[in-house]
Amino acid sequence: MCPMDTADFLVIGSGIAGLTFVREVLGHGSVLVLTKKDRAESNTNYAQGGIAGVMAEDDAMDLHAADTHTAGAGLCRDDAVRTLVREGPERIRDLIGLGARFSIEQDRDGREQLSLGREGGHSKNRIVHAVDRTGWECERTLLAATRDHPDLRILEHWFVVDLAVEGDGDERRCVGVWALDTASGTVHQFRARAVLLASGGCGRIYLHTTNPDIATGDGVAMAWRAGAAIANMEFIQFHPTTLYHPHGRSFLISEAVRGEGGILRTADGNTFMHQYHPLGDLAPRDVVARAIHTERLARGEPCVFLDVTHLSDDFLRSRFPTIHARCMELGIDIAVDPIPVVPAAHYMCGGVRTNLDGRTTLPGLYAAGEVACTGVHGANRLASNSLLEAMVFGRRAAMAAIESAARVPLPAIASEDAPPAGFGSEAPPPAVLGAARRHLQAVMHDYAGIVRSLSGLAAASTQTQRFRHEAADIVRRSVPDVDAFELRNMADVAMLVVRSALSRRESRGLHYLTDYPETNPTLVMDTLICNGEEPSSGQA
Ligand code: FAD
Ligand code: SIN
Repeated sequence: MCPMDTADFLVIGSGIAGLTFVREVLGHGSVLVLTKKDRAESNTNYAQGGIAGVMAEDDAMDLHAADTHTAGAGLCRDDAVRTLVREGPERIRDLIGLGARFSIEQDRDGREQLSLGREGGHSKNRIVHAVDRTGWECERTLLAATRDHPDLRILEHWFVVDLAVEGDGDERRCVGVWALDTASGTVHQFRARAVLLASGGCGRIYLHTTNPDIATGDGVAMAWRAGAAIANMEFIQFHPTTLYHPHGRSFLISEAVRGEGGILRTADGNTFMHQYHPLGDLAPRDVVARAIHTERLARGEPCVFLDVTHLSDDFLRSRFPTIHARCMELGIDIAVDPIPVVPAAHYMCGGVRTNLDGRTTLPGLYAAGEVACTGVHGANRLASNSLLEAMVFGRRAAMAAIESAARVPLPAIASEDAPPAGFGSEAPPPAVLGAARRHLQAVMHDYAGIVRSLSGLAAASTQTQRFRHEAADIVRRSVPDVDAFELRNMADVAMLVVRSALSRRESRGLHYLTDYPETNPTLVMDTLICNGEEPSSGQA
């Protein structure tokens, strides 16, 4: 029998989505957060550019909505987009009310106002930021706002392995989770009236990514195993500009750098983005990443360059202190040297399908943030809409969970429960796990990256099935082990990306298929996958 524990609300993950939810449900019952590393370690903590929101008088919700739809290449859900842009500014003001210190500037009359940046695909300056460490500021603010609350427990270094589901047919319900205490090596069951999945993205399934180690797609994998519907996993966003340097491969060079005038050039100093899009260097991300990919291949060059040498050293140091300092550490003075950059996997636009209240198709389970597919991003996320989406829909999920939890009894503790997969007694094989992880990442890089083909995806499909069987076998034989669980999750998520990509026979947004290079106007629909079923198309 496993040790068990209960809470009214259980939250998986302590990034901006999880903590926004926590802040809202506190006062309505006991809250338990399980998070797999230190509480601040998350994609959120590394977000640079900012949070998009209509905060200026010359801006309008319709414009933000239109930019979001344009970037999303026809697949955004209009009701989700409208909700995002309508409720977003209030969520930004909430954060400011909690003490978030966003960058300010003076208007023409000397009055202080929010400094609003510009990023790709936006028709107005609307990016609220804290210089180039916006995510760190959000995380700091939310952790401070919830610290020491008597109803809140945050358990760090607890790895959620799987969702606990009970009942059959229409009675199936998520009643909690199985989680590994990495300090003791024991697996516990936790039960709750409502479970929020806020476990972030899956960048680590690729060889090169902006994402930290936590981003192994655990939430999508466990929701899929539990039978929740998963949507649009083919749309993996590659950020156009990550530092190309042997010691800085995961380091992002924010799109805000181009928003402030940064220019992309090939090694011979020529600009190229206007050949690809009227917005040039500020085109939507899918366009810029593909353009860089094309230029590199055509010229046989490993990277392109982001040039800010026409901007003053003082400006660069004050506007981009993190980027300036990190490049300097690696011997690149960005005021003097163009920055070598390449695209890298950055954001998962698909995820666990939710409605506008964060409810998944599995009763009892809510999802918010990068793990969720609310319909906001469609086929390509507009820059800086992610932190916003996590706050808007994290709060809406909290409201729905509070309302439902009042009607749901706390699931009874069953004395004979055992973890669904069952574990073994062998020591996990670290060398095998490491080699399989790198191989999986290479397969995804080669065959399911910026440019895809049906034959490459078919090869990736065979390989990912092999990794899935290998990982599942290791999990069955080994004592509970984070590396083994992560490999299983990464292989499951890689399979979902590849299956979704194979089923979309067109090019749209982030999904570019050489066999079908055009967008097919009749395919304005989501790709939906449920465990045990073939991918199907649903209404966008
Ligand atoms: P995360 O912040 O990733 O949090 C996930 C949490 O879940 C973590 O606490 C993690 O430890 C935990 N977790 C995961 N799996 C498990 C498990 N099995 N068990 C227990 N805990 C688990 N977006 C913008 O809008 N603007 C930006 O400027 C911006 N810049 C970015 C820069 C970088 C370098 C990166 C990587 C992303 C950026 N993004 C940006 C995207 C944005 O940061 C993320 O999409 C967003 O922060 C996701 O928040 P989240 O709360 O959903 O997930
Ligand atoms: C960036 O700063 O370029 C990242 C912005 C985002 O991912 O939205």
